[in-house]
Amino acid sequence: MSPGDHDVLEPPGGHPPGSAHEPLLLVDGLGKRFGDHEVLRSVDLRVARGQVLALIGPSGSGKTTALRCLNGLERPDAGRVAVGPDLLVDFSRGASKQQVAALRDCSAMVFQHYNLFPHKTVLENVIEGPVVVQRRPRAQVTAEATELLDRVGLAARKDAYPFELSGGQQQRVGIVRALALRPTLLLFDEPTSALDPELDGDVLGLIKELADEGWTMVIVTHELQFAREVADQVAFIDGGTIVEHGHPDRVLRDPREERTRQFVQRLLHPF
Ligand SMILES: Nc1ncnc2c1ncn2[C@@H]1O[C@H](COP(=O)(O)OP(=O)(O)OP(=O)(O)O)[C@@H](O)[C@H]1O
Ligand SMILES: [Mg+2]
Repeated sequence: MSPGDHDVLEPPGGHPPGSAHEPLLLVDGLGKRFGDHEVLRSVDLRVARGQVLALIGPSGSGKTTALRCLNGLERPDAGRVAVGPDLLVDFSRGASKQQVAALRDCSAMVFQHYNLFPHKTVLENVIEGPVVVQRRPRAQVTAEATELLDRVGLAARKDAYPFELSGGQQQRVGIVRALALRPTLLLFDEPTSALDPELDGDVLGLIKELADEGWTMVIVTHELQFAREVADQVAFIDGGTIVEHGHPDRVLRDPREERTRQFVQRLLHPF
């Protein structure tokens, strides 16, 4: 491949030897408040290149806010976020607009409610970011988008509008839209919680494939079985603080903290 080429199905950087444990995402002391409400408090996260972090926790614990801070959609009040060796944004010292924009460019988000543009077709939804924001050539982006849609079995629906698709199909478009941005990091916010349990398998299967291919991901999820299968580490957040983190089997089967144990029990035995 020439330097300008990029295999759309491969994570950026491919799989260079020896890179497996290089930290790709470092979050250090992240804090965020909305008025008097301290929503995130000293959040530390560390995700190696090609690894998957599952973030679990009760409603209102700060999971979405944490993802939004990583994606530059929300500006933290404190802490540092580093992505790769070249980007370090120190919010405690007042990050510049350019730094926040650079952080936003590193990642792509997949939303709980898909957030597709309702008045744009599937293909238009996918190419919008790469063409309008990243200013990449439309023909090349369209070819890549078509290849990605083909991969998820939706090439034939490229001219459909979101309302003509099932929830699972819309979410697969949401994932393709994220991949089309060629991000360094993929962020998922409860990607299947709006789907019927019988219909979420395709989406979870696709996310698992991406994990196997070496994408670096942070996934907010309530699906503990899925977290165990896909994640390299699980972090449990409660009240804006990471209560514990570690290997999925350890955190989910044998939690050290009482709060984690109660949360896991409630999810496994809701009634
Ligand atoms: N823009 C905002 N302004 C004020 N408060 C906010 C804002 N966004 C989130 N919050 C508050 O921050 C807290 C954390 O919200 P967040 O959406 O991050 O939780 P969550 O863990 O994603 O919850 P859920 O599982 O219900 O999605 C909540 O108390 C919420 O009301
Ligand atoms: Mg949320």
